[in-house]
Amino acid sequence: DLKKFAVTRNGFLPAERPSELLSDPYYEPWELVAQHLPQLIDEDRIRDEVSKLPVLETHRLLSEAEWRRAYVVLAYIAHAYIWGGEKPEEILPPQITLPFLRVSSHLELPPVLTYAAANLWNFSSPGLDFTNLEDLRTLCSFTGTESESWFLLISVAMEAKGAAIISTMLCALEAIKSHRDNCHGVLTAALNDLRDCICDVGVLLDRMYERCDPMTFYHRIRPFLAGSKNMAAAGLPRGVFYDEGDGRGSWRELRGGSNGQSSLIQFFDIVLGVDHRGGNNGNPDGGEDSFHVEVREYMPGPHRRLLVHTTRMGSIREFVAHLTADHNGSLGEEQQRLRAAYVGATEALTEFRNKHIRIVTRYIVLPSRQPWNGDSRKQNLASSSSTGKESQHLTGTGGTSLMPFLKQVRDETTVAGLLE
Ligand code: HEM
Ligand code: ALA
Repeated sequence: DLKKFAVTRNGFLPAERPSELLSDPYYEPWELVAQHLPQLIDEDRIRDEVSKLPVLETHRLLSEAEWRRAYVVLAYIAHAYIWGGEKPEEILPPQITLPFLRVSSHLELPPVLTYAAANLWNFSSPGLDFTNLEDLRTLCSFTGTESESWFLLISVAMEAKGAAIISTMLCALEAIKSHRDNCHGVLTAALNDLRDCICDVGVLLDRMYERCDPMTFYHRIRPFLAGSKNMAAAGLPRGVFYDEGDGRGSWRELRGGSNGQSSLIQFFDIVLGVDHRGGNNGNPDGGEDSFHVEVREYMPGPHRRLLVHTTRMGSIREFVAHLTADHNGSLGEEQQRLRAAYVGATEALTEFRNKHIRIVTRYIVLPSRQPWNGDSRKQNLASSSSTGKESQHLTGTGGTSLMPFLKQVRDETTVAGLLE
């Protein structure tokens, strides 16, 4: 029963279109700011407007869809406030923190712009089939550019495309667990579906180039996605202080928005038994949990629990690695097909990560070395969000060391496929 994990016919996306507006006029002050972010940022008015906001209560949020809308709105306002000036602002005022902390805890998410805020719950669509990119629109935006919405919507279409594979793979795990007779056939078919699914999702990823301009992305968009962890060089050495008024509050260091928080991609890793607990957790200084485990805290609670549940269901990789040879020392035909299907799916995931690395080269590494003729305030923002001009010093918005991290993650995928 996938309902308790908030998995819908659209996978990790909601079953229905996300709420586009908090309809109670009480929330109009938030909506007015959220809907005019590009203008307020351009005109350098965002911080003034936020300081004028009243502190609103959350008890008028009437449905989960409205809680999510409030989360999206507050996350966008918070990041616009922090990054929408010449220098980042270290202190988030009570008008944002008080409702944002409540809404976040209701949704079991951290009070920061997560993948859920920017992608999963931040789009509109004329119908309920969310796989068609051309039909999708972004709700909140920092820049109002086509590049920004295309960047966000690619992930929406990918999540929708991946929806069906979730139950397919859970059934396959179930088949192993219950030692069903035709378990090999079920597994082989599921892994072939998984390979096709990963390829389809990769085709969508490659459509990034169609309408997302690398220079616009690098200089204007990604600075706003940055979090407060590993952002010392960008001007937040202590993170961000969440001022809760009356002398209360705390410093927090949270990772910024990253598609690395996609539950779907982690689901692929888990069902294929890819192990990311290796040395490189993406933090420039090492230490702590792996990135992949850590960012589960940045996923909606039910999705996080689905990943744990899936891990506990058993390992397809172990099953495939321990297929027993017959007395001639070779695998039977059925077993060979199963093994090939596992290897094929894993190779597809490696290829997906290679496509992603090429995107990162095109959208981060190359632009960081090119001159930019945009206005100087934006240039400051961009140069502040990366810590230097050389790629080994760049920091992802999710706070990782970027290329070395992504290459290790890709290599860990390859290793899984060797079945050794
Ligand atoms: C991680 C960049 C689009 C999936 C990352 C990281 C960077 C990055 C720098 C490292 C984590 C961090 O510090 O932020 C980009 C750029 C993109 C892009 C520049 C487009 C212009 C996407 C899309 C997806 C995606 C559309 C699909 C859902 C991932 C995943 C990770 C990741 C799964 C975690 C590492 C892994 O498991 O391979 N990305 N990304 N990215 N990104 Fe992207
Ligand atoms: N995580 C992506 C970046 O670092 C969006 O730019």
